[in-house]
Amino acid sequence: MWRSEGKRKAMTDHKKATSLELGNDSKGLTRRQFLTYVLGGTGAFMASTVMTPLLISSADPLHRSAGGSYAKTSWKVSDFDDKLPKHVTYLQHIDDGWNSQDKPNDVYVIKYQKKLMIMSHVCTHLGCHVKGSTHNGKSIAPEYSDGLKAGSVSYDPNIGPKSWFFCPCHGSHYDNYGVNTPNSPAPRPLDLYQYKVDSDGYVWVGPSFKRYDNNWEHNPNPEVD
Ligand code: FES
Repeated sequence: MWRSEGKRKAMTDHKKATSLELGNDSKGLTRRQFLTYVLGGTGAFMASTVMTPLLISSADPLHRSAGGSYAKTSWKVSDFDDKLPKHVTYLQHIDDGWNSQDKPNDVYVIKYQKKLMIMSHVCTHLGCHVKGSTHNGKSIAPEYSDGLKAGSVSYDPNIGPKSWFFCPCHGSHYDNYGVNTPNSPAPRPLDLYQYKVDSDGYVWVGPSFKRYDNNWEHNPNPEVD
């Protein structure tokens, strides 16, 4: 008898204490409120951890213009002429999500109407790398025959029977200004890059842009001479 009364009293005391801890008392937290605060606080912490770098990244002009920045090259305008494209490389700065790095990029450069045409090496058909007519690193006359004969329906006398660029994947041909020949699967000329020239004469290369058949000569870049 004495034992069971003591046990009952101990259980009652424990219930009271538990009730106060978990907030069955009107002044404390209910179990639901407690869980809501804990989960809410954890969620807010995780969201701030993930979102803060993204917000900083999108607010920073250098990151916001991913692929839109200019890279200084070691070339000067005088390194190029209006006869044949020259194959050159520069370090392009890439901001891609968390990665920020300098990667070598191949381009071909020729002058046209007082401007440089800095042409991409990526075929506009499905993205393979085109080959230029070069020998031991030096540009040579167009060497790729696209099988067109003078007088055939798609023969273009301005392009001639040989092309300067060739894509080994599906046989696209481009002339020395990067314009696709009529029987190529490539739908448009090679993309161009924006550029600017600094006061010491060095060329800085910016983002690329597309050209289309009906405006392939359109080049928004500055004149260089
Ligand atoms: S990817 Fe160049 S011809 Fe298809």
